[in-house]
Amino acid sequence: MSRKRVRYIWIPLIIVLIAIPAGFFYVDWSKGGSGAGLYSRKWVPEAVFAYWNPDDFYRSVDSVMGEFEGEQCISCHEAVTPGIVKDWRASRHSRPGDGKDTVYCSACHGNNHQELHLPTPEVCGGCHSTQHAQFVDEKRFGFPSHALAMERALDAEHFVDKPKAEVTACLNCHSVASKCDSCHTRHRFNAAEARRPEACITCHSGPPHPDDETYFASAHGQLYLAEGERWDWSKPLRKGNYKAPTCAYCHMDQGRHQVADKSMWKFGIKQINPLTSGNEVKRKQWVALCSDCHEEDWSRQQLAGLDAERRQAWSKLYAAEGILKQLRADGLLYPAAGERPPYPNDWLDSIRPRARIGFFEGQASAFYNVSPIERDYFEMWYFDNLGAYKGAAHGDAGFVLRGHEAMDQALVAIEAAAAKLRRLGEMEKKAQARRPDPAALWLSGEYTEFNRERN
Ligand code: HEC
Ligand code: HEC
Ligand code: HEC
Ligand code: HEC
Ligand code: HEC
Ligand code: HEC
Ligand code: HEC
Ligand code: HEC
Repeated sequence: MSRKRVRYIWIPLIIVLIAIPAGFFYVDWSKGGSGAGLYSRKWVPEAVFAYWNPDDFYRSVDSVMGEFEGEQCISCHEAVTPGIVKDWRASRHSRPGDGKDTVYCSACHGNNHQELHLPTPEVCGGCHSTQHAQFVDEKRFGFPSHALAMERALDAEHFVDKPKAEVTACLNCHSVASKCDSCHTRHRFNAAEARRPEACITCHSGPPHPDDETYFASAHGQLYLAEGERWDWSKPLRKGNYKAPTCAYCHMDQGRHQVADKSMWKFGIKQINPLTSGNEVKRKQWVALCSDCHEEDWSRQQLAGLDAERRQAWSKLYAAEGILKQLRADGLLYPAAGERPPYPNDWLDSIRPRARIGFFEGQASAFYNVSPIERDYFEMWYFDNLGAYKGAAHGDAGFVLRGHEAMDQALVAIEAAAAKLRRLGEMEKKAQARRPDPAALWLSGEYTEFNRERN
């Protein structure tokens, strides 16, 4: 008897021993396709991805033959790409200080014109090890971060599920991870340019992340707009050098190439506990930063105001989530999960269709293939809520007000829509009938077919 028991102990152990390498093997295998990331076998890259994600996709041109020294690159490219040469000449790379060697085209692109490469952060890191190490260190803080932005986009289910035309732009912004020219653009590579808010807002704008809108409406942004032209942008972002802070002053303080280390609420899409010991450390860093120009206590209160705004936002969001979950439990969502196309990438959804509600049940599933009331919640959560958060974080009271007004209206609309769904449900029960089955329309509509063919 006891011997048998000893033998049984081995069974789970052996299963675990097989499952672990099998898991690693599967992840490895799934990354081996023509795309990149976890779902690489399910999509084909666009040509432009070579520039946004050179590590995975760039292949050198082979139309020009030969190996060249730096000066030869310049003299030929003076005619081929004069704008690039002009910018390079204006950059520190063409005339570094302290007797350092000129950084020619070849230092970043290579000498052999049939084996050119586009420089990844590692290439810049060869000479700028401090900035590169700080940048890589962001990974410690998890998502979101610049260093992990490319994998975050590639591994997002909706990136793979949706038609290419709708998701191509993702990599444009998320390329902040795969090359260093997002904030100091090529080929000027100018630190002064990166200190200004315009360097960030090419990516940090629009409804889910209105950093642009909220910053420029804040007291800080207004000062920048009024006086910024006259500030000396060659000075580093340190206490005393600037009258009002810019994005980089607050998020890359002391010029650290690191935007993730102080972030408490992160993107704002889920509720967090702002008072954990880890977040208290971050709060101290924020207060120290604000104290470059403000009173310490006053600064602490500003951050407490942000937490209060978040509590209020989450009480509204949870109220809406509760309504949706109850409708789901009563089978009243229309069309219901089984009546609309399963998410192509989600096998569980095709076996056991279930509407996903809220962050923890699957963020991607909220984006599309949902019924009208779920879409209302998505917009409340993703646009109104995230906007209110950024308003509160950046000191734009108007944006906070509008975000909360919009959330209140959305909640009222969701309540009304839910009441209507319930009334219809009652009537159907009485008549022992069901509304027309929407599956035929949804499961093979124009969009669905297009989607299936072109993932
Ligand atoms: C004899 C002229 C000539 C010389 C010398 C030359 N290039 Fe080029 N380079 C070109 C031309 C022409 C193209 C465009 C090729 C094409 O599109 O097929 C090009 C394209 C490039 C590109 C863009 C590749 C792409 O995929 O977009 C880079 C980067 C580049 N050159 C770097 C260099 C570097 C670095 C050197 C020196 C080691 C150099 N070039 C020397 C003529 C030259
Ligand atoms: C400090 C590094 C660095 C130096 C020096 C440099 N480049 Fe680049 N170059 C880059 C980066 C970064 C990109 C963008 C790569 C990407 O899109 O993935 C780029 C892109 C390019 C491209 C293709 C994209 C475009 O804008 O057309 C060409 C062509 C090019 N460089 C030519 C040159 C030439 C010619 C020189 C010398 C005058 C030069 N580069 C010097 C870093 C450098
Ligand atoms: C071969 C070495 C080398 C490589 C590779 C290199 N740099 Fe530089 N970089 C330098 C030198 C040298 C300076 C000038 C520093 C000085 O004058 O003290 C410089 C200066 C800079 C500056 C400061 C400019 C300013 O306005 O103060 C930036 C920003 C910069 N590099 C970015 C990059 C990026 C981004 C890459 C990769 C695309 C890169 N560098 C690749 C050597 C390099
Ligand atoms: C090329 C596009 C691009 C530019 C330019 C850019 N960012 Fe970002 N940034 C992103 C993306 C994409 C993410 C989200 C990454 C993810 O999903 O993990 C992000 C995330 C962030 C975060 C969130 C970090 C966290 O932990 O919550 C901060 C803060 C940030 N960026 C600040 C800045 C600042 C400041 C600048 C300008 C100095 C800037 N970014 C420039 C694309 C960009
Ligand atoms: C205009 C630039 C831009 C485009 C286009 C873009 N993103 Fe982002 N994305 C960002 C920025 C900036 C953030 C971070 C905002 C923040 O922290 O407030 C972000 C955040 C995210 C996050 C959440 C990060 C986290 O860890 O919670 C995911 C996932 C994401 N993006 C995926 C995508 C996908 C997939 C696409 C294409 C459908 C896409 N993004 C298109 C700029 C962009
Ligand atoms: C999110 C925007 C952003 C990205 C991405 C970025 N930088 Fe910077 N970079 C800045 C800012 C802002 C400064 C000015 C810092 C200061 O004032 O102290 C700067 C300054 C620099 C300098 C000059 C430092 C000095 O003290 O003169 C170098 C070198 C540099 N960056 C290299 C890099 C490298 C290498 C990468 C890629 C790993 C990179 N940067 C990516 C924003 C960025
Ligand atoms: C006065 C300092 C300050 C300025 C200026 C500023 N921010 Fe912020 N930002 C904050 C604070 C504080 C938060 C909330 C931090 C938290 O929740 O931990 C925040 C939140 C964010 C977030 C969400 C991720 C995070 O770190 O929490 C992003 C992304 C962001 N800001 C980008 C920007 C961009 C882009 C600009 C310029 C257009 C900008 N910020 C200007 C202070 C600033
Ligand atoms: C580089 C200096 C500097 C830093 C750093 C800074 N601020 Fe400011 N801030 C200012 C200036 C200047 C004003 C405008 C003061 C006025 O209106 O008289 C201002 C105004 C404000 C206002 C509007 C105040 C009012 O009475 O209307 C708020 C809110 C604010 N800051 C919050 C913050 C927070 C929170 C931080 C840290 C995350 C911070 N600031 C960091 C310089 C700074």
